[in-house]
Amino acid sequence: MTHPLILAAGLTRIYPMGDHAVTGLDRIDFRVAEGEFLVLKGISGSGKSTLLSLLAGLDSPTAGELTVSGIALHSKAAEDLTRYRREVVGMVFQSFNLLPTLTVLENISLPALMAGKPADAVEKRAAELLDWLDLASRTGHRPAQLSGGEMQRTAIARALINDPAIILADEPTGNLDTGNGQRVMHLLSELHRERGRTLIIATHSDLADPFATRRLYLKDGRLGDPSSSLSRTP
Ligand SMILES: Nc1ncnc2c1ncn2[C@@H]1O[C@H](COP(=O)(O)OP(=O)(O)O)[C@@H](O)[C@H]1O
Ligand SMILES: [Mg+2]
Repeated sequence: MTHPLILAAGLTRIYPMGDHAVTGLDRIDFRVAEGEFLVLKGISGSGKSTLLSLLAGLDSPTAGELTVSGIALHSKAAEDLTRYRREVVGMVFQSFNLLPTLTVLENISLPALMAGKPADAVEKRAAELLDWLDLASRTGHRPAQLSGGEMQRTAIARALINDPAIILADEPTGNLDTGNGQRVMHLLSELHRERGRTLIIATHSDLADPFATRRLYLKDGRLGDPSSSLSRTP
């Protein structure tokens, strides 16, 4: 791996909480190559969301380095991070995070319009995504009028509108029933398999396991070997 897409060295996030501090991530080192499908595992509180927030440019590390696609996120000014968040990464959340007053089409198009893309190009890209995600009959609906599966597919379309190289998903199937969870995981795996995207997914569920190229295990903000955090019988 000569030029990893993602390189983390000593990556640390400490949350100051009054007179004490909570460790989110503790000096982790890892590399991700372009085209990997990485699954992040670990019990609740192990640091998965903290790591995804740093990768998404939504938060900054307390110490250490994080370079993504040649961009040193640990030393970036806020306006550069905005562009990074819009164009390099696409993020999918457990709770969908759609804007309630906007329609499906408006939710999907917003990041592209905010990035200054021409309206006709945005419309064309949105139409392709709506078609692929089977949402063409829902374009004028608002989030409250959608099922959970439709909301998450809308969130996936929004994450893809600017054609990011990296897709990050934090418990993307956590609020879905098994059928919709499987459907979302298949769509995400298609992005990896057929479109060569790099995916990093934090999940408790085993739905992603058949598609993963690698698994990373977090425990107390440290990366570890699963055998050190699971009791296994040989
Ligand atoms: N915004 C925050 N403020 C304070 N502590 C936080 C914050 N976010 C996460 N933490 C703490 O950091 C640790 C890792 O949390 P998190 O990254 O959310 O884990 P996971 O996603 O694996 O459940 C936990 O101890 C959690 O309480
Ligand atoms: Mg989490």
